[in-house]
Amino acid sequence: MASWKSAVVAAVSAGCRLSRSVPTGGATARLLQPHIRAKSSLAGSVYLKDIPRIVSAVPACHQTAKVIFEDNKTAEFKYIWLRDNCKCPSCVDVDTRQKLLDTPSIDSKIKPKALQIDENNQLVITWSSRDGEHVSHFDNSWLYRYGQCFMHDTFNAPSVLEEDGVRPRPPLTLWNRYIIQKRLPEVEFEEFVESDNAMFEWLDMFYKYGFAMLRGVPTDREQLKRVVDRFAYIKETQYGATWSVRMDPTPGVHLFSTGLYLQLHTDMNYRENSPGMQLLHCLQAEHPDKLGRDPGGQSFFVDGFRVAKWMEENEPSAYHILTSTPIRFSIKNKEMRYSNMWPIIVTNPEGDVQEIHYNNRTMGPLQAPDHVVVPFYHAYKLFSQRMREESQQLAFHLKPGDLVAFNNRRVLHGRTGFDPSRVVRHLHGCYVDIDEAFSKYDHLLSKRPSL
Ligand code: OGA
Ligand code: ZN
Ligand code: ZN
Repeated sequence: MASWKSAVVAAVSAGCRLSRSVPTGGATARLLQPHIRAKSSLAGSVYLKDIPRIVSAVPACHQTAKVIFEDNKTAEFKYIWLRDNCKCPSCVDVDTRQKLLDTPSIDSKIKPKALQIDENNQLVITWSSRDGEHVSHFDNSWLYRYGQCFMHDTFNAPSVLEEDGVRPRPPLTLWNRYIIQKRLPEVEFEEFVESDNAMFEWLDMFYKYGFAMLRGVPTDREQLKRVVDRFAYIKETQYGATWSVRMDPTPGVHLFSTGLYLQLHTDMNYRENSPGMQLLHCLQAEHPDKLGRDPGGQSFFVDGFRVAKWMEENEPSAYHILTSTPIRFSIKNKEMRYSNMWPIIVTNPEGDVQEIHYNNRTMGPLQAPDHVVVPFYHAYKLFSQRMREESQQLAFHLKPGDLVAFNNRRVLHGRTGFDPSRVVRHLHGCYVDIDEAFSKYDHLLSKRPSL
């Protein structure tokens, strides 16, 4: 009967998904437990009869404890807020009820060691600090009252994917230079073409890293479509079904048709939905010579989700500006006139990063209240500086026969400048709707034996 009494102790390091969240069966199951109302209250734990009891408390993403009440309301409490509101005698003076805890001294990245619900239906949080353990107790009634601004209705329905028996996707792997270089996500073209298993491996890398390579692709213009036809179909855009990135002397065509350095960016943020998957197949390129002289045209890639997470954890005000300020991206070139607005970092209502839209070349004048202007430039600089650090970038010269595929709404790409009168560089590219690639991935995933 007293199932709610069993402490809900969960590993505080519970994994978190960045790009999609499926309600966990555990939380849903706990909601179905019988309601038990308190008749009495113990000293220090005054809870009202009609205040919904806490059913469970679990650590969640974004430095949050998720507390579910028996009326199916979920409140998301930030750890720093909970720590700041500890009511123990060393944090609040017993007689005057004035606060003894010095709020600015709290580590903004504080995390609890354990969350529990005790027999009085209090949320008990154990913190560890340099001075040893600290324990905070919160009544259900106090949390319910002060949690109103953090509350939403618990989403109770099973997800469509679960209903259809589709296997949940694995967690994403956020990467920097060292993580991705340790095991470069790459597959040989021959294997990719001949084996569904190899294709699955490649799609799996593409899903987890937002980046995957094929090696040894024959260097003719037919191969790009051949690759895409294995798992999806090409998404045609204003540049056609496929396009060439190479020197084009026609004035005003596009900056990619020059030898200009292209700083990190995502493509086509000015479209109603920027393409999710981009493929670049290298047909011709030049490598550093034996003396290491660099001809330029080096490619570089950065995991925008990882940089965004770093911003969230280390520069929360800047992160807030980048997730809440819509930016207009436009292109006006001959007949091309497209324009759309996004925040640079797009999050879902749960705070998970969904998309990155970043392209300094097509970003329009900031249209925002004047108090946002300087903070925006500050935030934009911090985000740019972080992604431009070498430690974040996978950088290499594409060789003829290499093909890179990347999630254009997650991974930023760029290339160093080169002299097109001396260097021959020809990439053949196209876009694919990313949900087509993921649909194939889900299908192959659901056919695989469970681990
Ligand atoms: C582009 C682009 C990359 C390259 O055309 O948008 O980013 O390596 N090109 O030339
Ligand atoms: Zn305390
Ligand atoms: Zn580009």
